[in-house]
Amino acid sequence: MKNVILGLTLLVTATLVSANVDGKPKLTTQEAKVKMKASMSLLDKELKQTIGKLSKQTKGTLVQIYRHHDRHSQKVTLRQVMQEVGQEMETMISAVFMDNAEMAADAARRLANHRIPRGGLISYLELDQINDELLSGLDGMNTEVEGNAIKFAQAADKGDMAAAAALLTPIVNGCVACHNIFRGQPGKNSHIRY
Ligand code: HEC
Repeated sequence: MKNVILGLTLLVTATLVSANVDGKPKLTTQEAKVKMKASMSLLDKELKQTIGKLSKQTKGTLVQIYRHHDRHSQKVTLRQVMQEVGQEMETMISAVFMDNAEMAADAARRLANHRIPRGGLISYLELDQINDELLSGLDGMNTEVEGNAIKFAQAADKGDMAAAAALLTPIVNGCVACHNIFRGQPGKNSHIRY
């Protein structure tokens, strides 16, 4: 509960301070919908029905997020996508302290265009997390991370590494906000009490 409140607080802050993801979407709405449909075909009936019940607005948000991603994997899971995102973040931080603008900008653009995992993004959430209330925060958190990653890349392009460095905090706040709401403890084992 404490985590959810922290997550929601960070999320509200995130939504207030963030701007929309800029840059042209990589896919048309139609192309994004085709990708989503292909992902849905991999899901079992229960998950498909749960996603099917989401509001038009939530589904619209998902389509918009998909439009900003043209790397759709047939193999990797959400956790693997996240591991890669974590590596991009590390690269961005290293590039700032090593004053390597090109390295910084490339990693940030890869982060903003992270892979979409096999079966789609929200398919990896618990069924009771797939509802309009919790997912209403998705757009804000996504913009906080990916919108600011694009801004980070633009600052690095201009060689303004101080401006890039200042964007690291809002980006990480976006990661943390989403983790507090949607990420369980990785690697839990049913034989151990928590
Ligand atoms: C939209 C929600 C969301 C955002 C934003 C997000 N994550 Fe995650 N992240 C998750 C979820 C959900 C998992 C758990 C996935 C699983 O285990 O199936 C996760 C797992 C991870 C993991 C795997 C290891 C672990 O501790 O669980 C890493 C690493 C990670 N995220 C890094 C990041 C970084 C870095 C950012 C920001 C740049 C970020 N994430 C932004 C939802 C998000």
